[in-house]
Amino acid sequence: MSALATLAVASQAALVASPAPLVASASPMAASPAAATQAALAASPAAALQAPAADTLRAPPVLQDRHPSPDTVEVVLAARPARLSLLPGKETDLYTYGGTFPGPTLDVDEGDHVIVRFRNELPEATTIHWHGLHLPFDADGSPFHPVPPGGEYTYAFTVPVGTAGTYWYHPHPMHDTTWQIGKGLLGAVIVRAEDDPLPDMTERLLILSDNRFHEDGSLSFPEPGTRQARIDEQNGREGDALFVNGQIEPVIPIAPGEVQRWRVINASGARVYRVAVPGHTLIHVGSDGGLFEIPVEREDILLANTERAEVLVRGVGESGSEVAVEDRPYDRYRPLTRPRDWDRTRTLATLRYGTEPGQGVETPDRLREVPALREEDASAVRVLRLDQGRINGQTMDMGRVDLRAELGATEVWEIRNLVGMDHPFHLHGFRFQVLSRNGEPAPYRSWKDTVNVPARETVRFIVRFDDYPGKWMFHCHIVDHEDMGMMGVLEVG
Ligand code: C2O
Ligand code: CU
Ligand code: CU
Repeated sequence: MSALATLAVASQAALVASPAPLVASASPMAASPAAATQAALAASPAAALQAPAADTLRAPPVLQDRHPSPDTVEVVLAARPARLSLLPGKETDLYTYGGTFPGPTLDVDEGDHVIVRFRNELPEATTIHWHGLHLPFDADGSPFHPVPPGGEYTYAFTVPVGTAGTYWYHPHPMHDTTWQIGKGLLGAVIVRAEDDPLPDMTERLLILSDNRFHEDGSLSFPEPGTRQARIDEQNGREGDALFVNGQIEPVIPIAPGEVQRWRVINASGARVYRVAVPGHTLIHVGSDGGLFEIPVEREDILLANTERAEVLVRGVGESGSEVAVEDRPYDRYRPLTRPRDWDRTRTLATLRYGTEPGQGVETPDRLREVPALREEDASAVRVLRLDQGRINGQTMDMGRVDLRAELGATEVWEIRNLVGMDHPFHLHGFRFQVLSRNGEPAPYRSWKDTVNVPARETVRFIVRFDDYPGKWMFHCHIVDHEDMGMMGVLEVG
């Protein structure tokens, strides 16, 4: 047995021993907000399959570090088919990382050297893209480095200091990202800072995803050439079953007075979420690339595809009460293909108060420095025009370089959305700071790797190409659009 195989067996054993994130339970929950939503959903095929869900939110397993040295994290991860129960009483054939949905979390510290020994046990080529991480080109898992079926690949990178935050990983094969993410390939990455300014408190990971099912529990993807395929081409493939960590409407326990830290990831291929908890002000403390300088209070938090948020939730509810964690409507669509029920509020989870009062914590007014990238240092201003499926009039060509930049250069990118629907714009490898939206300066600084560009709006951001030469993708993160070629290549050299 090779060393790699031995490690893989050990890791599978570890996964089996950890709490399975995906065991359907049929325990009924009467008169809950979930039940009302279930009734409202009953018209849709996926909803007909759903029984009331009352499972407590489970965190995915954490990848086990096999390396003896404290600052190297070595993990083993396989992509492989698995049959799991996503809907009560039904089984679904999925592709998984490590046999679970979502896949196991990569939980590391700033400064860690990370080695991921990956094996592709799928019947097709794939990659693992470490979304939002700053790493060498050959560790990016972009379409330039496909791993064939039965193949192995080692992703090795060092997590830079100052990048603590919430990220995720997903496949990125040319043309097949919608299919593979939809089949279940996604997992979280958490990067922790030694000098994290937030006090210890209950931390929760919430990976949001959606999917579309046939009556028998199998996944539904549109047949090419059908009306549904044409709608998905526009909107991206949205599903009417909404999952948090692979669970439908799980219960999130909280104690009265307690403050919890939530890391929320929009891992949907196309659905945009507007997360709110009625009666609760959300304290937004961070986004894609980690904490802000100062917390921002919000009614709701908009998360376009692939965006992440760190949020403090203060338990202001009464002992024994419940409140829905909502996904409120957000119109990102073109009028012609806007779904009929786009303006419905959906339930993501139920926040349930215990009876024992929790420990309140003081949260700091200042979080950390986010050093500004300065416009006067920029050596170029690039204009990228987005239309429906193209960037600057072109679709993706692996053999073409669309933009070239010098290693170490600072640039301003102006992303103009020319069409009547939103496109979330993502750049690989390098985080950026939004400067303005439609000429309005950004209200505060934060590190981003994706920015939603609403219909007919313009966003300017600033980026510095430090460290890693190579070919880096930029694309719309509605993964159907990416698959259709709404993507280009930046060569940093
Ligand atoms: Cu989430 Cu090209 O990436
Ligand atoms: Cu990416
Ligand atoms: Cu798009």
